[in-house]
Formats: sequence, C-alpha cells, structure tokens
Amino acid sequence: MSNVARVAVLVSGRGSNLQALLDAAADPWFPADIVRVVANVPGVFALERAAQAGVPTSTVVSKGRAREDFEAEVLAQLGEVDIVCLAGFMRVLTGAFLDRFPSRVMNIHPALLPAFPGAHGIRDARAYGTTVAGATCHLVDNGVDTGPILAQGGVPVLDDDTDESLAARVLAIEHRLYPMCLRWMAEGRVTVEGRRAKVKLLPGETRWLGG
Ligand code: GRF
Repeated sequence: MSNVARVAVLVSGRGSNLQALLDAAADPWFPADIVRVVANVPGVFALERAAQAGVPTSTVVSKGRAREDFEAEVLAQLGEVDIVCLAGFMRVLTGAFLDRFPSRVMNIHPALLPAFPGAHGIRDARAYGTTVAGATCHLVDNGVDTGPILAQGGVPVLDDDTDESLAARVLAIEHRLYPMCLRWMAEGRVTVEGRRAKVKLLPGETRWLGG
C-alpha cells in the first residue's frame, strides 16, 4: 500500500456510513482516499453523497443476475484499490471476489457480533430483549457477518425504544467506528491471526466505544 490507501465503497442505500467515511477522508491528513463508490441499486441516495464529494460512482445492478457476472463487473469498475468498504451493501460477496482483497474488505454491522448477524440486527436485538446494543466493524470473510472483529461500540437499549430510536443511537456509533477502523487499516496497523484481528493501538485509542 502506498502512503494513502485507495478505497472503494460499495453501497445499496442511503449511505450515512459512506458519508462518515467521506467526511473523514476530506481531512488531508486522513490516510485513505475514497476513489470510487459502487451501488448495486440504481438511484440510491449514497450515489448523490458521493457525487457531492466529487467521488466517481458506478451503478452495477445485481438484481436478477448471476453473482459471478455481477462481481466481474464490479471488479472492472473498481480498478486498482487497496481496501473495499461495504457500507449498507446488501449482497453477500463470493469467496472469489474476497480473494482479490485478502483481509482488506471491511463491513459495518448494527449489532454486537457474534450476536444478531444478518439483515435485521437492531430488530433482532430488541426482540431478544438485550439491554445493550451496538455496532461492529469487521473484516469480511466467507460467512455472513462472521469475519475478524476490528472494533465494537455499545449503547443502552431503553424500555421505550423503537427499532428506529435504537437504530439512530447505534448509527451514531457506526459513524465513529468505521472511519476509525479504516484509518487503522490504511495505516497498516491491522494484522489477522486466524479469527482474531490485532490492531497496533496508539496511546488513547481503544477498540471499544461506549455510548
Ligand atoms: C447500517 O446500519 C449498517 O450497519 C448496515 O446497513 C445500514 C446502512 O446504513 N450494514 P447507511 O446506508 O450507511 O446509512
């Protein structure tokens, strides 16, 4: 990786996590540049956020297509990138895609993994009745939300929470976690040993954010 990591972000929706990454990368001292945003759903708001920030975008429709076809086209759009960030990207990537970026595909998930993987982390945590919820930033492996954990952050679940109010509190944590973890990755401070990611922390840094 050169001094500044080249990062692509894959999105499927409103893109608030993309925005957090774009805002972080706007700082000239941030060690990563977001060089492309790819959406698998046409017209999503994330594309507008990228355009506002002057980042080139591509739309590669996934619906109704074989995964291999879809991923080949995404790869062609990405070009040379060091790190791929999934930010509300609602497709599971194949091992063949992930092998192109070994331990360099990141994801943000709205639950404290390994609890509540999948598409409904917030709803599932509330339905289970946990008193703590949170977010996990992790590397992506062949499973669904199973890769090595980079950092996590927690918030209380309140008795009168709705899915929406809890999601908003968790989202605030996501927006802090993701740029922090991308910085670690871009600075080459993350190593992976089996299931565990290790991070060379600087003084004052922590892998757990309380909320
Ligand atoms: C976030 O809750 C993220 O954790 C999950 O999908 C949601 C995407 O939100 N993977 P946004 O598009 O980043 O606003």
